[in-house]
Amino acid sequence: MQKTILITGVTGSIGGATAHELAKGGHHLVLLARNQQKLEALKADIIAKTNNTSIDILTADLSHIASIKKVAQEVKQKYNRLDALVNIAAIFRANRELSKDGLEMMFATNHMGPFVLTNELLDLLKQSKPARIVTVAAPSTTKLNFDDLQGEKKYSSMYSFGGSKMMNLMTNYTLAKKLEGTNITTNTFHPGLVKSDLVKEMKGPLKLIVNMMSTKPDKAAHSLSELVTSEKYNGVSGKFFDFKQKEKKSSAYSHDQAMQEKLWNLSTELSNK
Ligand SMILES: NC(=O)c1ccc[n+]([C@@H]2O[C@H](COP(=O)([O-])OP(=O)(O)OC[C@H]3O[C@@H](n4cnc5c(N)ncnc54)[C@H](OP(=O)(O)O)[C@@H]3O)[C@@H](O)[C@H]2O)c1
Repeated sequence: MQKTILITGVTGSIGGATAHELAKGGHHLVLLARNQQKLEALKADIIAKTNNTSIDILTADLSHIASIKKVAQEVKQKYNRLDALVNIAAIFRANRELSKDGLEMMFATNHMGPFVLTNELLDLLKQSKPARIVTVAAPSTTKLNFDDLQGEKKYSSMYSFGGSKMMNLMTNYTLAKKLEGTNITTNTFHPGLVKSDLVKEMKGPLKLIVNMMSTKPDKAAHSLSELVTSEKYNGVSGKFFDFKQKEKKSSAYSHDQAMQEKLWNLSTELSNK
């Protein structure tokens, strides 16, 4: 059955490959990114390669809460159903930057982006049940420092990136509990090391190692698409899968309910400012 699927991060490596893969399955895709030109080129490429013309594009800055709320409003006005939301967009920044909302840029884009977009689209997803949310994360073990989440006192790019991916894991666990009994499932996905521009600002030998170990996005895109559409994941929620579609155990810290709740409450507060 054709599903309506909204995907972020489509102008990137994993997002682009996932959009192609889902388009092959004949689904109606809503591609969301911040760059209109890149989006139009991607749409043309997908149509040329898959013959699927059911492709819409939307622009928004996922580091800016007002922009996310605006595009979510647009989605709710345009579509009467949304079967799946796939949160892929993220960044890595070597130096501390602030978003338009005054938040550290990785916190804003990688955590608040999917947090706000998902919450804004929950009613539409509920209306379309069964529906799925999948967020691309990583097996982060970073412990959150709630006294300095914005890196004001001390900034470390690796800490902020790892922290944002920990937040993806924690948010997923909290949301899965909140969505129990609704027939909306939510899971996280680790793509493995994939060649992309994500680490272009990473410095030194680490960047070299990451690049050497990275592979093409095809396998990750295939597994991610399965997680979004395959019947074998009906009713599966609150889990973390890797690029081989194996369920993984994330760190004990990511399951700390007090920390999860603290993060959820803080994020809700920030998104309502
Ligand atoms: N690559 C890996 O090895 C790896 C490993 C673990 C996890 N991941 C995760 O996989 C996901 C995709 O990463 P990738 O490797 O495909 O990275 P990528 O190629 O750099 O793609 C990132 C995407 O996010 C978009 N984006 C960034 N900031 C945005 C904003 N403010 N508003 C809207 N869109 C924005 C980018 O748009 P522009 O084209 O406009 O920049 C791009 O489409 C991320 O969540 C990442 O954390 C990747």
